[in-house]
Amino acid sequence: RWVAVLAGGLSHEREVSLRSGRRLSAALRATGLMVEEWDADASLLARLREQRPDAVVVALHGGEGENGSIQAVLEMLGVPFVGSDSRACRRAWDKPSAKAELARAGLSTPDWVVLPHSTFRELGAQAVLDAMVDRLGLPMVLKPDQGGSALGARVVREASELPAAMVGCLAYGETVLAERFVDGVEVAVTVLEGSEGPEPLPAVEIVPDSGIYDYTARYTAGLTEFHAPARLDPTTAAAVGELAVAAHRLLGLRDISRTDAVVAPDGTVQFLEVNVSPGLTETSLLPMAVEASGRSLGDVFAALVERAVA
Ligand code: DAL
Ligand code: MG
Repeated sequence: RWVAVLAGGLSHEREVSLRSGRRLSAALRATGLMVEEWDADASLLARLREQRPDAVVVALHGGEGENGSIQAVLEMLGVPFVGSDSRACRRAWDKPSAKAELARAGLSTPDWVVLPHSTFRELGAQAVLDAMVDRLGLPMVLKPDQGGSALGARVVREASELPAAMVGCLAYGETVLAERFVDGVEVAVTVLEGSEGPEPLPAVEIVPDSGIYDYTARYTAGLTEFHAPARLDPTTAAAVGELAVAAHRLLGLRDISRTDAVVAPDGTVQFLEVNVSPGLTETSLLPMAVEASGRSLGDVFAALVERAVA
């Protein structure tokens, strides 16, 4: 059996993906699998058709790796792959759609608004920003409606910071997702599918030194403190696991996902977003959860490869 691990790509998260791909490939090789690391460039389609790996693991982040594009190609070619299918990827990748779908199903998520670039241009940026403050209050978080690794995301505490945050956000996408900021305990919950269905791994608690889990705090060792399992009481720990499994099921995800959530000061667990291709770097959350569950990253993904080819 041989497996192609897709990494790199051309999204803003290329560097992160190359790190994820390297770590995952090494972990899979350690289980005895034959692994090739492929950069997902323009030659990818031809390579897939000529070489037909027994399975593909998508370690791409952002854009085409998470929005269902690559998955649709793999489906068209009939190449088995680990992870969610193209339709589920599309549903999860658009943050406002995922929030709306899960809110409809009864999950809690911080109040939000979605504003395309054209709204700011046509109605006057300041007037729109004022209306956003009226609706959501401060602090609020601005993030691109699609994206990852907190690129373009900013926590805004003062109205005077909003114009720069809006411009920074629109540098990464066409549409702004503005969300009420919940100053609580940030956790990430990996959901893994085994023979008994989707199961939550121990939640990982995120405590960035700077207070904000931005790109630098994510990928520079030592800038964020992690607790795996999270320091939650048993009831809350169960609730975050249930939230992540519910998100995984409701969005129709497959194999593995990571839900990011916040435990609000009132104890409620609020959904932030779900990731179909979570980071696998040395500082990433999913590998910490796998380790906290007593498993190894290689064994977990080797089992998912077996599921994909079965
Ligand atoms: N988007 C990054 C890779 C993550 O969710 O871990
Ligand atoms: Mg994300």
